[in-house]
Amino acid sequence: KNQLSLALLKPDLCANPAIVHKLFELFQKDQFEIVKERKILWSKSQAEQFYFEHRNRFFYERLCGYMASGPFVALIISKPNAIKDWRDLIGSTYPCRARISAPNTLRSLYGLTDTRNSFHGSDSEETAKREIKFFFPDFKF
Ligand code: CMP
Repeated sequence: KNQLSLALLKPDLCANPAIVHKLFELFQKDQFEIVKERKILWSKSQAEQFYFEHRNRFFYERLCGYMASGPFVALIISKPNAIKDWRDLIGSTYPCRARISAPNTLRSLYGLTDTRNSFHGSDSEETAKREIKFFFPDFKF
């Protein structure tokens, strides 16, 4: 049975169309179906709203600044075990760590810093539903 996940291709990545193109090829190769796709440009306050749960963390300001720094892509992806498969593919939140422990993951290959880590994947079915609703309010589950 197919499972849905939200995936984000963050602003630093979207600044490089060649890499975005490669990623869509990877989605095809790994049999992720792209169910919906939206290009987003956030104001700082929209970023602050989405990342509200992190409001007291030391990286909140820089995270919201980063996510409002340019256009990014939000996707609903689908396949059996989409949540785990996508998170396995993107790897650790921290690209520097991923370069040591999981060098073939996407954040290892493309991530810039702990904050500018190029990708997002939902961490559970519940989170996926909430995040999909945030970016695709009209989506029928
Ligand atoms: P993501 O997991 O997609 O969503 C939360 C984001 O906060 C995370 O990606 C990073 O961009 C950022 N983040 C999480 N932990 C840290 C950290 N320790 N230092 C800097 N940024 C972080």
